[in-house]
Amino acid sequence: MGDQTMFSLYKTGLAALGLAASDLVMPAAAGDLVAGRVKAGAKCSNCHGLDGMAPMAGAAKLGGQKKEYLRERLRNFRSGSRQNPQMTFIAKPLADADIDDLSEWYSAIKVAVEIPK
Ligand code: HEC
Repeated sequence: MGDQTMFSLYKTGLAALGLAASDLVMPAAAGDLVAGRVKAGAKCSNCHGLDGMAPMAGAAKLGGQKKEYLRERLRNFRSGSRQNPQMTFIAKPLADADIDDLSEWYSAIKVAVEIPK
């Protein structure tokens, strides 16, 4: 179920309770997938891959990762609460919209999983 659908259901539920969505904290704004792809290609793909499969040893695989998880890690690098020479440098100039777009892109990648036999 997409975020939009979830949010519609959420609003329907709130309406039943006589509340407006604006009475509560809004869920994270959805990022722009196309912008995310462009930004990932320009700023992240050398280490994490455009597909998020991380050609660089030591860089995490981001493809298929949860959107909220990605947003949180990027915000932590940006604020300095998590430190890494490369990521701190990369994340510092990111705007909220960049973080949303990049998280949208990497979380939208479909990853197939095969459990070892
Ligand atoms: C120069 C290489 C490099 C580039 C470019 C780079 N990263 Fe990273 N990234 C890393 C490394 C190395 C780590 C692991 C950091 C650590 O050990 O704390 C990392 C970690 C991360 C993590 C944390 C993953 C986790 O599970 O904790 C996220 C999210 C991330 N990068 C996103 C991005 C995004 C989005 C971009 C582009 C805006 C980007 N990175 C660009 C090298 C890079």
